[in-house]
Amino acid sequence: MAQTVTSQEEPVQIDERLQHLAFIMDGNGRWAKAQGKPREYGHPAGAQTFRRITRYCGTIGIHYLTFYAFSTENWKRPKAEIDAIMRLFRKYLMDAFDEARKNNMVIHIMGDRSVFPSSLHKLMDDVEADSAGNNGTVVNMAMNYGSRAEIVHAVNRLIAQGKQQITEEDITANLYTAHCPPPDMIVRTGCEKRLSNFLLWQGAYSELYFTDVLWPDMTQNDVDAAIREFYSRKRRFGGL
Ligand code: IPE
Ligand code: IPE
Ligand code: MG
Repeated sequence: MAQTVTSQEEPVQIDERLQHLAFIMDGNGRWAKAQGKPREYGHPAGAQTFRRITRYCGTIGIHYLTFYAFSTENWKRPKAEIDAIMRLFRKYLMDAFDEARKNNMVIHIMGDRSVFPSSLHKLMDDVEADSAGNNGTVVNMAMNYGSRAEIVHAVNRLIAQGKQQITEEDITANLYTAHCPPPDMIVRTGCEKRLSNFLLWQGAYSELYFTDVLWPDMTQNDVDAAIREFYSRKRRFGGL
C-alpha cells in the first residue's frame, strides 16, 4: 500500500504524445448542493479550480489546454445561474491579462461570441491580443461553445469563400481550434459519461477519461492520474 502511495506521488513526465489535453469541467452544481448551498455557489469554486489546474498543466509542460466552460445548451438554465456564470466569465477575462503574463499563457476564447455584449467582445479581443505574444501553454476557453454549431459555422465560412467542394482539412482549418492539434485526451469530471456536444470533430481519436471527482474538487493528483492512464493506453488510429 505504502509503495502505491509513493509511486502515485512521482511527478508525471509529459512527452510529445500528449500535446493537447481537454477538460469538460462538470459537477459544480452538485458540488454546491452536496454542501447544502445553492448551485451558483459551485461556479466560483469551479473557476478557482480552473485557475489551479491551468497553472499546473502549464508547469508540467502541456502545450495546449481546452476547457469547456459554457455550452450552447447551457442557456436552458435559470437566468440567475446564467447571470452568475457570465459575471464570472467577465471577471476571468479581466484577471486573464495578469494571469497570462505571469504564466506565459496564450489565451483563446472559443465559441459563438455574437450573443455576448460588445463590452465583452472588446475584453475577449484584448485578452487574446495581449497574450498572443506569449510562448507558453495555449489555453482555450470554450464559452457559448457547441461542437455542432462550430461545424456549421465552419461550413458557412467555406461557403462564403465560394467553395463548391470541401475536404476534411478545410473543416479542421475553419474550426475554433484551427491553431491546435486535436485533443489527445478529453477528461470529464462529475460522473457523467458523455461528450455533451464538445469537440465532436476534433475528438474523433481522442482518448476519453471519466472521473467521478466533481470539478471544484479536481486536484493535481487527479490530473496526474488521468495522464498516467493516458500513457497506459494504446492508440491505434485505426491501424494495428
Ligand atoms: C459545469 O457544472 C459548469 C457548467 C456546465 C456551466 P454544472 O453546472 O453542470 O454542474 P452539475 O453537473 O449540475 O453538477
Ligand atoms: C457540459 O456539462 C458543459 C460544460 C461543462 C460547460 P453539462 O452539465 O451542460 O452537460 P449535461 O447537460 O449533463 O450533458
Ligand atoms: Mg453538469
